[in-house]
Amino acid sequence: MVFLSVNDLDVQYQSQGKKVHAIDHISFSLQEKESIGIAGESGCGKSTLGLAIMKTLQENASVSGEILFDGKSILAIPDPEFTKNIRWKQISMVFQGAMNSLDPVFTIKKQFEEILKKHDFHEDYKQVIESAISSVGLPRSVLDKYPHEISGGMKQRVVIAMALILKPKMVIADEPTTALDVLVQAQIMTLLKNLKKSGLGIMLISHDLGIISEIAEKIGIMYAGQIVEFGLLSDIYKNPKHPYTFALLNSIPSLNNTTKITSLKGSPPSMTNLPSGCRFYDRCPQAMEKCKKEPPKVMTSSGFVMCWLYE
Ligand SMILES: Nc1ncnc2c1ncn2[C@@H]1O[C@H](COP(=O)(O)OP(=O)(O)OP(=O)(O)O)[C@@H](O)[C@H]1O
Ligand SMILES: [Mg+2]
Repeated sequence: MVFLSVNDLDVQYQSQGKKVHAIDHISFSLQEKESIGIAGESGCGKSTLGLAIMKTLQENASVSGEILFDGKSILAIPDPEFTKNIRWKQISMVFQGAMNSLDPVFTIKKQFEEILKKHDFHEDYKQVIESAISSVGLPRSVLDKYPHEISGGMKQRVVIAMALILKPKMVIADEPTTALDVLVQAQIMTLLKNLKKSGLGIMLISHDLGIISEIAEKIGIMYAGQIVEFGLLSDIYKNPKHPYTFALLNSIPSLNNTTKITSLKGSPPSMTNLPSGCRFYDRCPQAMEKCKKEPPKVMTSSGFVMCWLYE
């Protein structure tokens, strides 16, 4: 059964008199309990996609398209109803950098209580909070601490526990391991893998393809506001089709092979002034004349790729 279906989603920010086209008509879908990785360079629109699904975009954003989540068209649901029944209860998000936004003047326990209060939660707070904190492998003593008294890895577990406290079916984790050292990164990934095993659907947003490969069945590769390749992670990692995906995969160092790492020259186009043809044209080693003028169509096989090479 299709669990999440994003159809022709488009997000534009109005900023200082200019339009930033952060998400340009993207579509993809996921089955229940399937996890997806969203990868791409800084500024390509990864967080915007997560925020759009959570309906937490800032006011300068205009959104069109359709997002079906568990059979409901969520963009059409009025915000009070979405807040009451869906956000945090059905789908939640670990926001990018959230571990650095814990309130320094309140204990961790107080911050959990505030979330429950905000959601009109009537059951026993103590038991729910303690169970949330132990589900992310932290001792109860953490609850009486202030954010500055715990490590970065612990803070990240706390914000994951906060996202899970109302038992959502799916969580969007936006760069949950960035800024953590590799050992703590590995611990957070083990935690996410265990949550996935227990039935949680995960959308993992990361610029790190290695991290994504640990958890996702599907992957969407984003470039300048578009998903340029989408499909099963196992297919795409073995046989990347889009030249951008190929370049991204070739930029990962590997311990067990000696293939030369290649870096991708240049930078993505400005999101306020996008080219009319393929957005990757300037950096693409396989670019053809057609690519300069005509935006590539979506070519479907088992997943899809937006590239004229597969016409
Ligand atoms: N509120 C906003 N107003 C105007 N522009 C915005 C706003 N939020 C994001 N943008 C712009 O939209 C584009 C996409 O941003 P987004 O944060 O979604 O990218 P990202 O892929 O998550 O990047 P990163 O990897 O750095 O987190 C960028 O060009 C960004 O500058
Ligand atoms: Mg981001």
